[in-house]
Amino acid sequence: ATIRREDYTPPAWLVPEVALHFDLGIEKTVVRSELKIVRNHTSDRAPNIRLNGDEIEPRTVLCNGKPCESWTMDGNDLLVSIEGDEALLSITTELTPDQNSKLMGLYASNGMLCTQCEAEGFRRITFFPDRPDVLSTYTVRMEAPKDVLPVLLCNGNKTGEGDLDGGRHWAEWHDPWPKPSYLFALVAGDLVALEDSFTTMGGREVDLAIWVREADLGRTQHAMDSLKKSMKWDEETFGREYDLDVFNIVAVGDFNMGAMENKGLNIFNTKYVLADPETATDGDYDGVEGVIAHEYFHNWSGNRVTCRDWFQLSLKEGFTVLRDQLFSQDMQGEAVKRIEDVRVLRAVQFPEDSGPLSHPIRPDSYQEISNFYTSTVYNKGAEVIRMMRSMAGEEAFRKGSDLYFERHDGEAATCEDFITAIEDGAGLDLKQFRRWYEQAGTPRVSAAFKDGQLQLTQEVPATPGQPDKQPAVIPLRVALFDRSTGKSAGERLVVLDQSEASFSFEDSPADAVLSINRGFTAPVALDVERGEGDLVFLAANDDDPFARYEALQELVIGHLLAEAGADGAARSDDTSRAALGEAFAAILDDGVVDDGALDDQMRGEMLLLPPVAYLCEQVLVADPVALHQAREGLKAWLGSELRDRFEAMHDRASAVPYSLDRKARGARKVKTQALVYLAAADGAAAASRAKAQYDRAGNMTDRQGALMVLAGLEQPERDAALEDFHARFDGNDLAIDKWFALQAGSLHPDVISQVKALADHPDFRLNNPNRVRSLYMAFAANKAGFHDPSGEGYRLIADLILALDPINPQTAARFVPPFGRWKRMAEPHGTMMREQLERIAAADGLSRDTYEQVNRSLG
Ligand code: ARG
Ligand code: ZN
Repeated sequence: ATIRREDYTPPAWLVPEVALHFDLGIEKTVVRSELKIVRNHTSDRAPNIRLNGDEIEPRTVLCNGKPCESWTMDGNDLLVSIEGDEALLSITTELTPDQNSKLMGLYASNGMLCTQCEAEGFRRITFFPDRPDVLSTYTVRMEAPKDVLPVLLCNGNKTGEGDLDGGRHWAEWHDPWPKPSYLFALVAGDLVALEDSFTTMGGREVDLAIWVREADLGRTQHAMDSLKKSMKWDEETFGREYDLDVFNIVAVGDFNMGAMENKGLNIFNTKYVLADPETATDGDYDGVEGVIAHEYFHNWSGNRVTCRDWFQLSLKEGFTVLRDQLFSQDMQGEAVKRIEDVRVLRAVQFPEDSGPLSHPIRPDSYQEISNFYTSTVYNKGAEVIRMMRSMAGEEAFRKGSDLYFERHDGEAATCEDFITAIEDGAGLDLKQFRRWYEQAGTPRVSAAFKDGQLQLTQEVPATPGQPDKQPAVIPLRVALFDRSTGKSAGERLVVLDQSEASFSFEDSPADAVLSINRGFTAPVALDVERGEGDLVFLAANDDDPFARYEALQELVIGHLLAEAGADGAARSDDTSRAALGEAFAAILDDGVVDDGALDDQMRGEMLLLPPVAYLCEQVLVADPVALHQAREGLKAWLGSELRDRFEAMHDRASAVPYSLDRKARGARKVKTQALVYLAAADGAAAASRAKAQYDRAGNMTDRQGALMVLAGLEQPERDAALEDFHARFDGNDLAIDKWFALQAGSLHPDVISQVKALADHPDFRLNNPNRVRSLYMAFAANKAGFHDPSGEGYRLIADLILALDPINPQTAARFVPPFGRWKRMAEPHGTMMREQLERIAAADGLSRDTYEQVNRSLG
């Protein structure tokens, strides 16, 4: 059944208070709920209360303490008819956590119990009006065998604990903040904690704890540091203070997503908690810092102010992603973080927005809400709010966000509420800007600077269900550079809100070089009328680091599209290889003596060629193999042309000792980049260099970088290094995940048969999402493997979807989008991709998750 945003009605019944009693066990858990329900007078007088359920049965139903006769089932839901305006309902359910392979609701993971309730997992624990606009205070009592489950955690503050007969114990928790059911959480297990404390700006002392398996305790310090930085930053930047006496984080090895912001008890995928230099890369360190911040920031943007319904998901996710991006910019450096975020947006969200799964950041309908935890809702959602901030300015935006939090504290709000609060607080008019919430599709902007005039046009493309579009409001930071001095007269923000407009820049030279969408102020695709010479100029002179990066990317894109013979390329400027060689040489040289504008972090970004997924976006019908080969060809040419420079850079960077400071991290980044180019040029020579890097590596960044390069080569060093890595990290799940991912993502010509063999490896487990993703997501993202002309890559992923769907539909459905671009793939790819979608669609008993994704993809 399709759920529509326009059909929203307020809940007929509210549940101000919930008391839950858990008799916990890994194999069997008994749940008794006590719900104080009251009629919601703003809504029609409903005779029944509807309590959602999913794969549970009511064992007993009591109404005001007496057995209740007046209940019926409507599908999965329990309907209880109630005479008066309030009642006390008590319902018992029985769960089998270790049978719960969907990892939604209460489930067992590696001997412990934990929960995941967002979006609709609470209904797998007990019957409840499982919708985010029903807010309740929770009191929870847990009882459990003390030897197996010694630690008992829940939302809020602990109010009591003690021992029981027969080796059992209990704990009781109370959360004073009313919350929707999706924020409920409990954890029970044999865990240890890294503890610390934080004093808030208002003087509240908060006990912090990060709970893990004993063997992982030594890998929790970075998460703790990140948490404390996040708490401080949110006070300083958004004026948000924490509101409980404890904040607990638990790391779990089996988890469908990254992490979850349950009130006072965040539950995390181990991947985003555990880090030490030996087992985590610099990228992993950033991932931990960013996700810890993200979940912490949800305490205000998500928990104190929550969502009225799931169509409003971007209200909390888009805003919280923006907040975590701004935090990471402050921690790691603005330019590099911005480039990374834009790279992800273009490689993941742009393709989503131009394919069959395209939807507005506030969707209008869904069948399964889990399918809408998308890059559009999260990342484009963040970009849309970032545009409001750019137009308002930081200070005015802060006034808007303050007003939003103040006005809607304790409420379940809508995106509309957010926009109105920003309008009122920041003094903006966002009437037409609201189209960003309504319209899907990436706007395409064309720009030219002629005779002192900046001429802009825009078009928002048609998307499924939305054939006609209105002009979007597009803020663009613009600067014009004087060719003779290499300088600009300063920057200006122009706002394009018509399909066509022109802006005059009278005091700029008539032939000035246009730098536009600096800092990526708007999430649009740009066609700028400017030649190779202008791009070379900007790549060398632009004082906005993002724009400088962008100019080089455009040069590369123009070259690769021409190389791949891409028809209908939106950009057709064929940049010669020689020009690129010079540009790359300048990047490798610039700053070596420490007086250039580039540090190694930034240099590493400049050296990264645009991903094939983004190259495919540039053409109507893409040949992924040709684009991949053109990209590899350019790498090989640059690697051989600039070999001395890459070798020198590798040597120079290899001499920098390990530390987590910016400089050392930058050195590690360019070190592996150098290997990548050298390996593309000359596998044998690079293999010994990579082996040396591997053997000397005292940290995972160097080790993984070297192994990544080796995994793609056919040299004998490859197998030895893979074997060493496996033996070295045997038993460390996150490191073994890397071992799978490096092979599945490699450039090795036999990657398909290697992936098949890895699926039979004793360490491979279909019921662990991290392991599944490490093998199959890495492969689906591997353009050469997935798009192999034999069609084997497509079959492999389709087989996985069919095998995984009955076990874990949410994770299975995440593998459908790579097939979604079949209409825009050159033959024979398009047909083969569609055939696999049809094969999946024809299977019996598909989950709602996979069913919806496959059918939308078929279009
Ligand atoms: N709210 C979580 C986050 O963004 C994501 C949880 C999504 N879970 C799910 N099963 N769809 O931080
Ligand atoms: Zn989130």
